[in-house]
Amino acid sequence: MLSSSISATMIVTRLLIFLFISTAVNSTFNLPKSDMNLLEFPLNLEYFEAEYFLFGSMGKGLDTIEPDLATAGPPPIGAQQANLSLLVRDIITQFGHQEIGHIRMIKKTIQGFPRPLLNLSADSFATVMNAAFEIPLSPPFDPYANDINYLISCYVIPYVGLTGYVGANPKLRSPISRKLVAGLLGVESGQDAVIRSLLYERANEKVVPYETTVAEFTQKISQLRDKLGNSGLKDEGLKVPIELGAEKKTQGNVLAGDEDSLAYGRTPQEILRIVYGTGDEHAPGGFYPNGGHGVIAKRYLNR
Ligand SMILES: *[C@@H]1O[C@H](CO)[C@@H](O)[C@H](O)[C@H]1NC(C)=O
Ligand SMILES: *[C@@H]1O[C@H](CO)[C@@H](O)[C@H](O)[C@H]1NC(C)=O
Repeated sequence: MLSSSISATMIVTRLLIFLFISTAVNSTFNLPKSDMNLLEFPLNLEYFEAEYFLFGSMGKGLDTIEPDLATAGPPPIGAQQANLSLLVRDIITQFGHQEIGHIRMIKKTIQGFPRPLLNLSADSFATVMNAAFEIPLSPPFDPYANDINYLISCYVIPYVGLTGYVGANPKLRSPISRKLVAGLLGVESGQDAVIRSLLYERANEKVVPYETTVAEFTQKISQLRDKLGNSGLKDEGLKVPIELGAEKKTQGNVLAGDEDSLAYGRTPQEILRIVYGTGDEHAPGGFYPNGGHGVIAKRYLNR
């Protein structure tokens, strides 16, 4: 009698455990396949940002701070600590830790993939700047040299992630996916806003030793991204012709936005063209020597 009630309890307990596990699996993996592909794609950028911010601020990355999240992907090439003031170092440290949370949450929601090979060398950024200026800068641009160079290099990244989240959102079918993307978008656009504000304060300063101002650097980078993305105007520097300012009334442009001041959206193809630096989603390069990971990026690589 006693033993049969114990075994009945055990059966019920096992059943409850089974039900618990199966609902957990359902909420984690039962998303539509198209949602899963769209949710894993941004991991490519989140890995980039995590490593760039963590190394830039602290001189160490995921392999030291959260090794499980790298899932044995190769370490980034050429990432290093930047020469930053206390304020900028403090802010970038916060961004780096935020990216760890983003990667963890994406990989909790979908399976994800290991960290792709990232080329975060000074040369890699110098190449982007040379492309933006359509002439080699002399000396080559060093993103790690000081606050202003590092912030300019940061201008290159979260904004691309932001446009990707804006572009992905209407394609998502599950509320779970949309909640995640809204949460990621909120913080990515916050990071972009902080970077742009810090640069905006110094918009008219020259970026030593060049004869070019901070505002001009941002314009060149934005023009390059639009050219590589090849889908019209989706990018704006810190100063714009008045027709592009908010309500066509301002030349200052601390945040980028369309004619209704809504954020621009980009497709995964456009994003790959930009972060590969090749203008071609089939031709990896730039920050991703072997290309991106995940179903969407691989689809273009294999063609
Ligand atoms: C990293 O990028 C720089 C600049 O494009 C390039 O010279 C270097 O070969 C790249 N490293 C790898 C391993 O792809
Ligand atoms: C670090 O940055 C400071 C302030 O921008 C600058 O004066 C100094 O020369 C930089 N140090 C190196 C090693 O580049």
